Amino acid sequence: MSEKIIAGNWKMNKNRNEALDLVSSVLQDLPDTSTKVIFAPPYLYLEEVARMCADFSNVKVAAQNCSHFDKGAYTGEISAQMIASVNADMVIIGHSERREYFGEEELILSEKVNKALKYNLQPIYCVGESLDQRKAEEHFDIIENQIAKALFHLDEENMKKVVIAYEPVWAIGTGETATPEQAQKIHAFIRKLLTDQYGEEIAKSISILYGGSCKPANAQGLFAQQDIDGGLIGGASLVAEDFVKLIEMRS
Ligand code: PGA
Repeated sequence: MSEKIIAGNWKMNKNRNEALDLVSSVLQDLPDTSTKVIFAPPYLYLEEVARMCADFSNVKVAAQNCSHFDKGAYTGEISAQMIASVNADMVIIGHSERREYFGEEELILSEKVNKALKYNLQPIYCVGESLDQRKAEEHFDIIENQIAKALFHLDEENMKKVVIAYEPVWAIGTGETATPEQAQKIHAFIRKLLTDQYGEEIAKSISILYGGSCKPANAQGLFAQQDIDGGLIGGASLVAEDFVKLIEMRS
C-alpha cells in the first residue's frame, strides 16, 4: 500500500525566524496520524528543521533540489551527500519551477534522482504539463516522457523509494486547481505506467501526490480519489493552520 503524504514545499519563502515558528506551530498542533508529513524548507534551515522534527517518526524533512554532481568545483551548488549529512530525508527533484527557470531537463533530472538514491535520500519527483501542452492534448505524452526518461532506468528496489508528484503547471500558484476528476485521470495513468514497467505490487506501493493550488477548501475532493495519495503543497504550506488542516484531511 502506498503511504499517505502531505508535503509542504516552501519554495523561496520565510526568513529563519519565520521558518522555525512555522515548524513549531505545525508540530504543536500535529494531529495524531500515521500520515507522513514533510517539510521542504530552503537549504539553509534544513539542519535545524530536521533537529526539531527528530522526535516525530512520521515527520520528514526534504530539500527542494540537489546538484546532479557528486562534489567538486560547482560554485553555489548543494550535493545530495551534503543534504543527507544534515539529517534531511528526502529531496524534491524536477519541480516545474526548476524546469522552467533553471532549464532542468530529464537527463539532468535522472542524474539527480541517482544522486539522491546514492545518499539514501528519497526523491519526490515532479511531473506536469503546461497549459499549452494540455490544450494541445499532449499531457499524457509529456508525463509519460518525464517519468520514463528520469525514472525507468531504476531497478525495483530503488523505484520503490521514489514518490511522484503530479503538478499541472497551469495550477501552480495560480489559484486554479485541476478538478478531482482531471487529477485522478492523470494519477491513474501514472499508476498504469508504473504497473507496465514494474508490476502491480510496486506500482501500488508508490505514493503519487497532487500539487497545484491545493488547499483546505478544495482538498477533500482531490484526496477522495483512488490514486491520489496526498499533496505537495506550496502556498497553503506557509500557513500553519492550513497545513495542519490538510494533514487532518489526509489522515
Ligand atoms: P501551490 O504550489 O500549492 O502554491 O500551487 C505547489 C507546488 O508548486 O509544489
